[in-house]
Amino acid sequence: MSAKQPLCTAPEGSGTLDTLLCEERVFRPMPRIVAEANMNPQDVAIARARAESDWLGFWEEAAEELSWFRKWDAVLDDSAAPFYRWFAGARCNIVYNALDRHIETANKNKLALIWEGEPGDTRKLTYYELYREVNKAANALRAAGIGKGDRVLIHMPPLPETVIAMLAAAKIGAVHSVVFGGFSARSLRDRINDATPAAIITADGFYRNGRVITLKGTVDAAVAKCSGAAAAVLKKVVVVHRVLVETAMKEDRDVWYHDFVRDQPDEAFTESLDAAHPLFILYTSGTTGAPKGIVHAHGGYMVGVNRTLDWVFDLKPTDIFWCTADPAWITGHSYVVYGPLMAGTTTLLYEGHPLYPEAGRAWSVVQRWGVTVLYTVPTLIRMLMRFGRQNPDRHTLGTLRLLGTVGEPISPEAWTWFHKHIGRSRCPVLDTWWQTETGMFMISPLPVSLLKPGSVTRPLPGVEVDVVDESGAPVPHGQGGYLVIKKPWPAMLTTIFNDPEAYRRLYWERFPGWYFSGDVARKDEDGYLWIQGRADDVMLIAGHRIGTAELEAALASHPAVAECAIVGVPDEIRGEVAKAFVVLHDDQPPVATMMMTGETDQDLIEHARRELGPVAVIREVEFRSALPKNKNGKIMRRLLRAESTGQSTGDLSTLSTDI
Ligand code: WTA
Repeated sequence: MSAKQPLCTAPEGSGTLDTLLCEERVFRPMPRIVAEANMNPQDVAIARARAESDWLGFWEEAAEELSWFRKWDAVLDDSAAPFYRWFAGARCNIVYNALDRHIETANKNKLALIWEGEPGDTRKLTYYELYREVNKAANALRAAGIGKGDRVLIHMPPLPETVIAMLAAAKIGAVHSVVFGGFSARSLRDRINDATPAAIITADGFYRNGRVITLKGTVDAAVAKCSGAAAAVLKKVVVVHRVLVETAMKEDRDVWYHDFVRDQPDEAFTESLDAAHPLFILYTSGTTGAPKGIVHAHGGYMVGVNRTLDWVFDLKPTDIFWCTADPAWITGHSYVVYGPLMAGTTTLLYEGHPLYPEAGRAWSVVQRWGVTVLYTVPTLIRMLMRFGRQNPDRHTLGTLRLLGTVGEPISPEAWTWFHKHIGRSRCPVLDTWWQTETGMFMISPLPVSLLKPGSVTRPLPGVEVDVVDESGAPVPHGQGGYLVIKKPWPAMLTTIFNDPEAYRRLYWERFPGWYFSGDVARKDEDGYLWIQGRADDVMLIAGHRIGTAELEAALASHPAVAECAIVGVPDEIRGEVAKAFVVLHDDQPPVATMMMTGETDQDLIEHARRELGPVAVIREVEFRSALPKNKNGKIMRRLLRAESTGQSTGDLSTLSTDI
């Protein structure tokens, strides 16, 4: 196996980190890791061979590891592709696997959830305690007339009740939709209008960076402006009491969480559901203005998440698993909540800012709870790198055995810093590639894999991907191309809520028969994959997906803005941030004045932040008298991006971003 990486031309707009292109280091699996691994290299080879010779049998075996109320008639029904149905005819409930079955085993009194609040308060729940809390919440929802198929929107910070609410909704066959607590009233309103929830579960507020952030007011503002159809469906707003703030409650509609669950029995039956029954809707940004409601179903999702977590993080009964993602993102759904609980692992949830009250907070969390697996995002690693090695060096991090990253390309520098200073050169760094849509890890090393810093290595067994050119032909090794998935996989999205046609168009039309990820990647001569970024108009700001169209719509709602275009530009910490090109209305002061005062910049930046929430980071606003357009009148963002990043426009033809 050669360690030398060929150079390649990065497709424009890919957010590629230059150093990825010349990385040559390799890290061989350590004997201790191989000896301890659930899957040694031979097992991995057997699994790959098995997946190749009997792909459906391979996934069927993975399904056999879980409990079902009724087994499937077919592992995969592809008669209505791309609307694939995994485990067709089966009946199940993911909550049975995440909670109920543990109550019958030695896991009953094991810690399921460790929660740490930002001020330092903590809460620990055993499997039995979590099970009872979920039952009470499930009964309360049922008592409020909420049941199978109803949507429950959860607008919460990371609290134990966030996990409880998700599981309670799933238990009764309701469909949860968790909306990030940092989103604005406008973003929340759009999601309420699309999901039309019967209940919204929220909190009065939460702690973040030493401040109290209120939340209930955002829900009130969003509901006040939601559509008539959404208002007609909404029955209850349930509010968790977290902070000391005055909170307005609307009679009949609003109820405190502790009152809602107080008199409910702590046993509740678990709904038996068709494997294709929707488990949740998770909104994510795409190339169109409105966020898409990605739908995942109980059966396939539970199989895919369960299998992949066990492979990649090689779970042990004594693990304390800390995935730093907010439960509101897919990473939180799959690998804070459902995956670890299905596996009977102890999952750790932290409420606050990782740098509060000091830069060593994350490491003190690891030390105090004896975290064994730490799964996080490159942005956080870059932030912590800035404070040097003295912060981690002050802590004993000896309990750690595996590290992982997700969400954006990691530079070899960040990878090796993480490996050396956090993993103390003992813990493999597992760089996992996947998406809201895939539901589960798709491309990732296992602990026994040979690692190359910055590479996500190879697809997991049973997953088939390729890197192809415009026409769908595989590109030669070393060259950039589109990342496609050639076979369906169990935890795949089942549709886009309210828009099945968009599901077909956005994912399956570009390369018929294959799933188009929207990413660009390259393969090296060892078949290792290097993700280069998005091929479309989606930015990854601190690992969060933000559509340029969504941000443009928010900015364009400012009265001074006649026209605008957003492009992603590289940022040292966040990976990428937005730059706005703005044409103002004629009645505004001349552009030169604007640029001198800087007031309008700040005003516009603030406006976008208010409209979408703090995830929408615009670093710079540039005023123009006109925007460059092609002959069809379409704004040429590629040109603007090339100008902003100092790229020449000459190499833009390799891959078109107009997909
Ligand atoms: C990017 C997060 C490089 C990618 C689970 C993908 C990555 C998008 C990686 C999905 C990785 C995710 N290396 N890029 N290991 N993992 N991405 O839906 O562009 O929030 O398409 O899911 O993040 O983001 P999402």
